[in-house]
Amino acid sequence: MKFAVLHGPNLNRLGKREPHIYGTATLKDLERHIRTDAKALGARVVFFQSNHEGALIDRIHAAADAGIDGFIVNFGAYTHTSIALHDALKSVAPLPAVEVHLSDIKKREKFRRHSYTAAACIGMVSGKGFAGYTEALRLLAKHVAAAR
Ligand code: DQA
Repeated sequence: MKFAVLHGPNLNRLGKREPHIYGTATLKDLERHIRTDAKALGARVVFFQSNHEGALIDRIHAAADAGIDGFIVNFGAYTHTSIALHDALKSVAPLPAVEVHLSDIKKREKFRRHSYTAAACIGMVSGKGFAGYTEALRLLAKHVAAAR
């Protein structure tokens, strides 16, 4: 199994960005964590971070065409605005995606409470920090194995 992990805007600033919310670990640390967990599940992962909506959409299409088995996505603030990213995930159906948020989006500002993109995902994990990615990997691997 091979999964694409997509990081949206400002996630390249992890470690420096609002550490009281997102912690002091960097995106590199997060990717190390994900790679270790994926290995334990017998899965491979590829990573992509962009601050640009269109670049994330292009990568979803390209990864699907290249034969990826599923996506783990944290679209950052695009979560709360982007019908285009929702449609991009729908455009590669039935490939599954799981949405992750490091912080608990339901317990923050009102404008973060709604996710446009979660409706195109098989699940969402929010507020569990790095462990949320572990949970997402398990969910995705289980889903892909069951669909085979
Ligand atoms: C986030 C939550 C979003 O509301 C925010 O815009 C982010 C990060 C999270 O991982 O908690 O950039 O997706």
